[in-house]
Amino acid sequence: MSRAYDLVKADPNRVIIFDTTLRDGEQSPGCSMNLEEKLKMAVMLDELGVDVIEAGFPIASPGDFESVSEIAKIVKNATVCGLSRAREADITAAGEAIKAAESKRIHTFISTSPLHMKYKLKMGENSVIEAIHESVTLARNFTDDVEWSAEDGSRTEDDFLCQVVETAINAGARVINIPDTVGYAIPEEYGRQIKMLFDRVPNIDQAIISTHCHNDLGLAVANSIAGVQNGARQIECTINGIGERAGNAALEEIVMALRTRQDLLPYTNKIETTKITRTSRTLSTITGFSVQPNKAIVGANAFAHASGIHQDGMLKNAQTYEIMTPESVGLNESKLVMAKHSGRAAFRSKLAELGFVLEDDALNDAFARFKNLADRKKEIFEDDLLALVEDEVVRKNAVLQFVSLQVVAGTSGPQTAELTLKVEGEQKFSKVEGNGPVDAIFKAIRAIYPHPEGRLKLYQVHAVTGGTDAQAEVTVRLEEEDKTVNGQGADADTLVASARAYVNALNKLLIKRTSLNPQTGVEKGAI
Ligand code: KIV
Ligand code: ZN
Repeated sequence: MSRAYDLVKADPNRVIIFDTTLRDGEQSPGCSMNLEEKLKMAVMLDELGVDVIEAGFPIASPGDFESVSEIAKIVKNATVCGLSRAREADITAAGEAIKAAESKRIHTFISTSPLHMKYKLKMGENSVIEAIHESVTLARNFTDDVEWSAEDGSRTEDDFLCQVVETAINAGARVINIPDTVGYAIPEEYGRQIKMLFDRVPNIDQAIISTHCHNDLGLAVANSIAGVQNGARQIECTINGIGERAGNAALEEIVMALRTRQDLLPYTNKIETTKITRTSRTLSTITGFSVQPNKAIVGANAFAHASGIHQDGMLKNAQTYEIMTPESVGLNESKLVMAKHSGRAAFRSKLAELGFVLEDDALNDAFARFKNLADRKKEIFEDDLLALVEDEVVRKNAVLQFVSLQVVAGTSGPQTAELTLKVEGEQKFSKVEGNGPVDAIFKAIRAIYPHPEGRLKLYQVHAVTGGTDAQAEVTVRLEEEDKTVNGQGADADTLVASARAYVNALNKLLIKRTSLNPQTGVEKGAI
């Protein structure tokens, strides 16, 4: 049976949180992730408590197939889902990719709106109905948990929508998804459409109805909630609202709306809201896609109170201007964990608590960098430690190693970088002028290790924790042919963090070139 269906039958107010960050989110421009990054996000989503992780679209590429099947092996609690069109090869690939998961789902879809059927599919209503019956029946050979989506559902005529939903349920679909694919619906209209299905489809009680709303008009979250108020019990969403075009409904906004307005929205889910901030930040770091400062729940200003009147009210009673606490989304959760005098044993055990078990050499290296950071920064927070040890595996297989950097910056110029790197153990030096210090640093790296095919696609800086002594975290994205990598570098000095980030990205690119798996460091097929 379908785990989600059983949960909703047992508790009619239970809302299934279906996360599609790794599928709809990842397919949007600039959000692509490599295998290692997808695995990291999958673990975080599982820990966050999402019910379903849509891990990818297995037929899309060998890389997608591999990431879905690797995610299926490591996810402990969530159902792992693979997407497929209504085609035999797609469904077979999805079925194969999710095989190892403890709880698995195939999500198959076809367009049902007149516009899509005429221009995109070039199929009539009868052929679409036949394709639905065949695809769902085939998918049921791989798993009992089959979701069927009516792509462009919100622009589908009521009569036909009822017909296709009934067909999909008869063929064995246990979740029926009604996407607002182009973000066109408004809440009242979308809610009415969901209610109409409950009123008219005779076998509707044999499935859960799901929402999947895009944000083209900024209404994705409102539409999703309208769907739930009218009987839907699954919401498809993404962290930070990433996704095609203007994105999908943002998971953090939906979950906090349900939690904050329990008076009007008495629905339950099992998201651990204190893990929201961390998950959001990790996604931003991995993709280099930053969150706008005024973004609800996870924006830098979401809990900041600037005006005097608001600050005064906050001091008297936080509820005057805060409808939810920063702690409830894990904002002030980054605990003070270590300081300058902390020893190696404490460092090792803190890392283990954070999920990093490092071998001796890697631990020594990370500890040396921790001491270095602690010399310059009074308090080390969990997030500082996470930034510090990230990519330890890549470092282990690194061709290039950052050694030292001196920079001339400021108005008198010329801005110059004196950089020393180790290339396969051999120390190399370069002194290069640039159009600004960052340009000089990146040119110096290129002078030491030429890589004319690698193009810089993104350079982004943000502070990991607050204060002027905050650790800067830099993301550098490099692209070469079909390979895209994001490198991260963290340091109290932004320019050193920039050099580290570039070197980290270049190491990842070189690992990809030699087809080494960045997770394990062992030879494998093309990533
Ligand atoms: O937006 C959409 O219609 C989709 C489907 C594949 C569910 O992403
Ligand atoms: Zn979508």
